[in-house]
Amino acid sequence: MNPSLRRDDWAGEMGERWLTNLDQFESMMQPVGQALLARAAFKPGERVLDIGCGGGDNTRSIAAAVAPSGYVLGLDVSPALIAEARRRATQQAVPCIDFLTADAATDTPAAAPFDRLFSRFGVMFFADPPAAFAHLLHLLPPGGRIDFACWAPLADNPWMGALADIVRRHVALPAPPAGEPGPFSLADVTALRALLSAAGFVDIDSQLWRGPQWLGGQGADAPAALRFALQSMSFSRVVEAQPEPVRQAIADDLLAYLAARHSSAGIALDASAWLVSAWRPPG
Ligand SMILES: C[S@@+](CC[C@H](N)C(=O)[O-])C[C@H]1O[C@@H](n2cnc3c(N)ncnc32)[C@H](O)[C@@H]1O
Repeated sequence: MNPSLRRDDWAGEMGERWLTNLDQFESMMQPVGQALLARAAFKPGERVLDIGCGGGDNTRSIAAAVAPSGYVLGLDVSPALIAEARRRATQQAVPCIDFLTADAATDTPAAAPFDRLFSRFGVMFFADPPAAFAHLLHLLPPGGRIDFACWAPLADNPWMGALADIVRRHVALPAPPAGEPGPFSLADVTALRALLSAAGFVDIDSQLWRGPQWLGGQGADAPAALRFALQSMSFSRVVEAQPEPVRQAIADDLLAYLAARHSSAGIALDASAWLVSAWRPPG
């Protein structure tokens, strides 16, 4: 994920890149997704919005939990991802599910309000987070609840930080601009809680999750994880722009790092994320 992503990147090139490696990304993030879904504990009959649903992996899990009388809408700014999410849900005959290409920061789906809002890593890319979270609050009825995951600080996420440090041995990587949208924009939990509170949320609860990120997906070997890293991570575009000997040296170093961490289950790198829940005040 590029640290300085904007909405338009996701609607275009970044959405396409995510789609290219969709199965790997979803497999990689399955542990944190399971923890977030367990915490959210959706019940039959609930009406849910999955914000930044990507290829719809979690959306389909939510549909299974709220069926037969509930409903889930997967919303994403990337038309390519929404098309794929819709295709997968249709192919698997998932009931109670629909998808919409829209901007969660500003758009109000016709199906609003929702009993519950949910997002695995889809709420860190808003250009104006205070306005976006205030908007999300009003997609809930009084007493409605949001659950989301966002990355904890980069220093606690070697799956991203250690790999970027290896690349940095060969080429300068731009530091993520402070205060800009990106994977780590909500990492400061004190600031995050203040942001939610200012938007009108109450009873804010944040729990630190620590677990594996399976680089390149569960079961990937080192060459597959390397291909994934070079295609999909924050440094991809910078590495692609280097002359061949530099690209090769970066690939060699990354491969050595990944191979040293490989087991039959894949390559598990340490990750940490905030699992957050908050409520719109009742009445
Ligand atoms: C890191 S991916 C996570 C995808 C999915 N939630 C998952 O866990 O598999 C972030 C997703 O948020 C979407 N996104 C980013 N900004 C958005 C916005 N303003 N409105 C809707 N979706 C957005 C992206 O297109 C992308 O699919």
